[in-house]
Amino acid sequence: MANAVYAAAANIDRLETILPVVKQIGEKHRALNILPEHYPIVGENLLGAIKEVLGDAATPEIMDAWAQAYGVIADVFIGVEAEMYDAAEGKPGGWRGFRRFVVDRKVKESEVITSFYLKPEDGMPISSYEPGQYITVRIKPEGEMYTHIRHYSLSEAPGGDHYRISVKREDAGEDKPAGIVSTWLHREAQVGTVLEVSAPAGSFTLDQTTDRPLALISGGVGLTPMVSMLETVLSRQPQRSVTFIHAAIDGSHHAMKEHIEQLAASHPQLTSYVVYECPRDGEVCHKDGYIDLPFLRDKVDPQSDFYFCGPQPFMASVNRDLKVLGVPSERLHYEFFGPAGSLESQAI
Ligand SMILES: Cc1cc2nc3c(=O)[nH]c(=O)nc-3n(C[C@H](O)[C@H](O)[C@H](O)COP(=O)(O)OP(=O)(O)OC[C@H]3O[C@@H](n4cnc5c(N)ncnc54)[C@H](O)[C@@H]3O)c2cc1C
Ligand code: HEM
Repeated sequence: MANAVYAAAANIDRLETILPVVKQIGEKHRALNILPEHYPIVGENLLGAIKEVLGDAATPEIMDAWAQAYGVIADVFIGVEAEMYDAAEGKPGGWRGFRRFVVDRKVKESEVITSFYLKPEDGMPISSYEPGQYITVRIKPEGEMYTHIRHYSLSEAPGGDHYRISVKREDAGEDKPAGIVSTWLHREAQVGTVLEVSAPAGSFTLDQTTDRPLALISGGVGLTPMVSMLETVLSRQPQRSVTFIHAAIDGSHHAMKEHIEQLAASHPQLTSYVVYECPRDGEVCHKDGYIDLPFLRDKVDPQSDFYFCGPQPFMASVNRDLKVLGVPSERLHYEFFGPAGSLESQAI
């Protein structure tokens, strides 16, 4: 956030140049239901932090300039987000803020990933979405003081009467506690449980205006937006060739395996590859270990549009290898399952 405020302040005379970034952040803010009345308290604390860091250099004039700059920047965000709230509400089946959804089905996809089929409690229509977008879930586990909000990519093609999300259970490790929302969903949410959900959001979406070959590459639970894109392209662009590459630890962690195999068997336009980090006895895959440069050189057409998602080191590696294969940045699209960032400068 401090970086975003700094970038905005540096461009304060031409804020239109940072509008694309503001829109990207605004998508997440809108999904979280951040409202104009939340800006002053954040501003107050930001100014407090700036003052602390600057120490003696924080003269009244400098602090006043930062306060004014924050006001101008906050107004830009509030304006952009107001349009987003209106747009989300104005869509057929759309809404503003959070809406109550009921878990209609819960399906185990692998040892660690479970899908949740969510239907609106009011029984009214729901808005459609672009493959690659996410919804945002708000819960208040029993005994917890606070609500918790997390984003989950929609893991099916749009068009149904429900939303499907597929969630990886973040178990506790030696030096880390269990993930709050994912373990709550796995353990506590049952058919009939109500969750609060905000309308689909996100700018990681499939470009369906081109017939260029498509390569969808995922690691672990990063397959969720890829499956939505895959199903969409198979039904809407039957001429477009698709390469689907999925990397998992082993067969027990491989979600939606049969589904993808069935799609590949019934759609000649689709070629699917599986990479297992450590296959167990008898498990069949196209490669052991990791997706690497020789594998990508062999399996993908560099003229493709590439979409990929997975753990950060996985994405950094795929991004670097595709660059070596000559794929230009504008055909590389990726999603972080955490704060958005850039892979451009990342070493692995
Ligand atoms: C756009 C987007 C799409 C996403 N789509 C999906 C999806 O389709 N499927 C999916 O499963 N996830 C998805 N995510 C990730 C999801 O939003 C959550 O981040 C994820 O479920 C973990 O949430 P949690 O509440 O279970 O874990 P949290 O409680 O938020 O913890 C996160 C991680 O930090 C660790 N941790 C927490 N506290 C500490 C500590 N003190 N020290 C060390 N480690 C700690 C936890 O063990 C856990 O591994 C997406 C995220 C984004 C931004
Ligand atoms: C001008 C003011 C603000 C700026 C520049 C700013 C900037 C950012 C940025 C850069 C991110 C990361 C986005 C991403 O991951 O893609 C973010 C996320 C977030 N912001 Fe803001 N923000 C501002 C105001 C606020 C306010 C007023 C709130 C209300 C409490 C807020 C709450 C959040 C939260 C909760 C997230 C986490 C999003 C997530 O779930 O990943 N922000 N913000």
